[in-house]
Amino acid sequence: MALKSPLITVMARAARRAGNRLARDFGEVENLQISMKGPADFVTQADLKAEEILKEDLAAARPDFGFLMEERGEIKGRDKTQRWIVDPLDGTINFMHGIPYFAISIALEQYDHIVAGLVYEPVTGNLFHAEKGRGAYLNDRRIRVSARSRLDDAVLATGIPHKGRHGHDQFLAILNQVMRKVSGIRRFGAASLDLVQVASGRCDAFWETGLSPWDVAAGTLIVREAGGFVTELDGAPHTLSSEGILAANQGLHDQLVKEIGGAAKRFRQEQQASSSAKA
Ligand code: IPD
Ligand code: CA
Ligand code: CA
Repeated sequence: MALKSPLITVMARAARRAGNRLARDFGEVENLQISMKGPADFVTQADLKAEEILKEDLAAARPDFGFLMEERGEIKGRDKTQRWIVDPLDGTINFMHGIPYFAISIALEQYDHIVAGLVYEPVTGNLFHAEKGRGAYLNDRRIRVSARSRLDDAVLATGIPHKGRHGHDQFLAILNQVMRKVSGIRRFGAASLDLVQVASGRCDAFWETGLSPWDVAAGTLIVREAGGFVTELDGAPHTLSSEGILAANQGLHDQLVKEIGGAAKRFRQEQQASSSAKA
């Protein structure tokens, strides 16, 4: 049983207040499914409101820190070395469709390093958190990545690029390779929660491309503090501006770099070959 630090207490309080609001709004969304107008505008408002609550609470506790927020963008603080990275509603499409799988993600970045991360799931009340060097927790219970080391037994989470984004063909090339090797693949719809599924050993790995810093800032620290590895698809160091992310337990990470990174590389080579053939 771990006593939460003052920093995590601040983050948890903000997440719970914004999460209560999201949970209430989520109840309304179900009613709106059957209206002609649909829930889109209402969801946008819920998202903005949650972000406002988070900004208000985090700024009240640490007035000098800056922000990088999905909806409001970058807000410079007086202290240029520290900023909150916030996704007020991760899993918007689930939320809009009445699927109870979405989260709030908050990370604290200090001198370009993530030092604290928290992912809160309003529907279950599950709160995942980590601070650098202090381990990862689910509701005050220490969590660890899984010990599975055979691809045959592994369950992976992933994200399918949404309509209008790039990377569909590359995704299919990777999927085509990986689905033949692993036990199962899941697309849950909220990257921050996918990462904590890896941290808590429910899923053995997660990969996706095209994510933003607020999707992964908290979750990557939680995975690492739970003993997992987080890199780019080809095993290169992961940063918040990386195009791809591969999070896995130690026993599977190398094997997945070969499968996923290898498939991504072959895909790019084939693309290049076909564009030079056309030229
Ligand atoms: C999205 C979710 C989803 C991932 C998308 C993200 P949002 O975040 O994390 O799982 O596949 O690419 O953009 O838009 O719901 O905050
Ligand atoms: Ca997101
Ligand atoms: Ca979001």
